[in-house]
Amino acid sequence: MSSTVIKNGTIVTADLTYAADIRVEAGRIAEIGPNLSGDSVLDATGCFVMPGGIDPHTHLEMPFMGTYAAENFESGTRAALSGGTTMVVDYALPAPGQSLLDALKMWDNKAARATCDYSFHMAITWWSEQVFDEMRSIVQDKGINTFKHFMAYKGSLMVDDDEMFHSFQRCAELGALPFVHAENGDIVAQMQQKLMADGNTGPEAHAYSRPAAVEGEATNRAIVIADMAGCPVYIVHTSCEQAHEAIRRARQAGMRVYGEPLIQHLTLDESEYLNPDWDHAARRVMSPPFRNKQHQDSLWAGLASGSLQVVATDHCAFTTEQKRFGLDDFTKIPNGTGGLEDRMPMLWTTGVTTGRITMNEFVAVTSTNIAKILNIYPRKGAILAGADADLVVWDPKRSKTISARTQQSIIDYNVFEGKTVTGLPRFTLSRGVVVVEEETMKTREGHGEFVARPPMPAVAKALSTWKELTAPRRVERSGIPATGV
Ligand code: URP
Ligand code: ZN
Ligand code: ZN
Repeated sequence: MSSTVIKNGTIVTADLTYAADIRVEAGRIAEIGPNLSGDSVLDATGCFVMPGGIDPHTHLEMPFMGTYAAENFESGTRAALSGGTTMVVDYALPAPGQSLLDALKMWDNKAARATCDYSFHMAITWWSEQVFDEMRSIVQDKGINTFKHFMAYKGSLMVDDDEMFHSFQRCAELGALPFVHAENGDIVAQMQQKLMADGNTGPEAHAYSRPAAVEGEATNRAIVIADMAGCPVYIVHTSCEQAHEAIRRARQAGMRVYGEPLIQHLTLDESEYLNPDWDHAARRVMSPPFRNKQHQDSLWAGLASGSLQVVATDHCAFTTEQKRFGLDDFTKIPNGTGGLEDRMPMLWTTGVTTGRITMNEFVAVTSTNIAKILNIYPRKGAILAGADADLVVWDPKRSKTISARTQQSIIDYNVFEGKTVTGLPRFTLSRGVVVVEEETMKTREGHGEFVARPPMPAVAKALSTWKELTAPRRVERSGIPATGV
């Protein structure tokens, strides 16, 4: 059996930094230690060797707003690998009325092209006895332990509180974790109508229709519903202080609530929507929208203090042509931005090199924390003997200026265009295979494998603060009071 040794690097994990070589065999880490030898050698002199990134929030080829996200599983995962991300978790979205198992087959087919490992979250877009029953097969037979709920996108993906409460209770029974897009969809829909009626048709109105309060309210509501259902909850694309505050408060009260800021919200702000170039602004239309600097500071503080756990991308990339569907009506601009390729370099540049987060925190928020949350640790997210050899040899001196002209993504623009990043992969390994060597891509379509995720026993046992405080107790009474005069 042939082996590869990564030599002369400094290993950086979520909790340790130390000099050691790594020997990789049969796709896994075989040995970690000094002076290792093997059949081939990768020189990591001057580099940090870290677990490959895991992006738990992508929408490759997502059917949305009358079109499909143009980034596909081949190009999206190739872009991911070039930036040091070795696993993505995409969202399988049943159409209302569609079987969860049928939707999963569709996503299985699309993902066959993936160049890196992947998994799926299953979305709950409607509710019935069939959905209730199929949730068990999704968890127990299909290896999916997370269910997504959209509190926004009224008339398409949105579910109401009743449906969420049913689904969350089912998650608690099955050992699954609910994920939530938290924005009050009713308020957004009314705000959109009002803005349009007042003649505010441009992309900047997208931001006006989705203020931070709307996200904060929904985040708090999702947390209360999860608490009543007795399960933890994971809030995706946390973009503002109001949502962060709800998460922080719940965690302080002992609830298991996770928050996921995106690299876009951490580094790009609302002024992007005021750009006089319509295309520039529309290309950045996503939900929730970019916020101001105070909200960004709140997110950075959350990452440093641990109240927010994961940095993702919500990669949902449409071409400029697709964005132009909304030229006269901002509500028709397909919502979504890209970031898979740039998440790790951008976070390193704006987070680690500035001292906002440490290298170990970088590993935690790009890989290890989500591997634990998704119950795939230490197979993924770790540098340990026996773990999958999904590794990135990170050169902190390599630099580039981000440009759509040179990116792997097939989209015709990049929301980080012109930003210079310092800190890039020298090598990226996916299950022991060198898939990236500096600018040279060595990926193979179909190399990616589905990663099954077992149910989480701890989820089923999660305590609800509500049940603890007010467990119903029947009062025995001696008789029924007489009625009448
Ligand atoms: O605007 C966004 N975020 N598009 C993708 C779908 C979602 O809400 O995550
Ligand atoms: Zn969302
Ligand atoms: Zn999303």
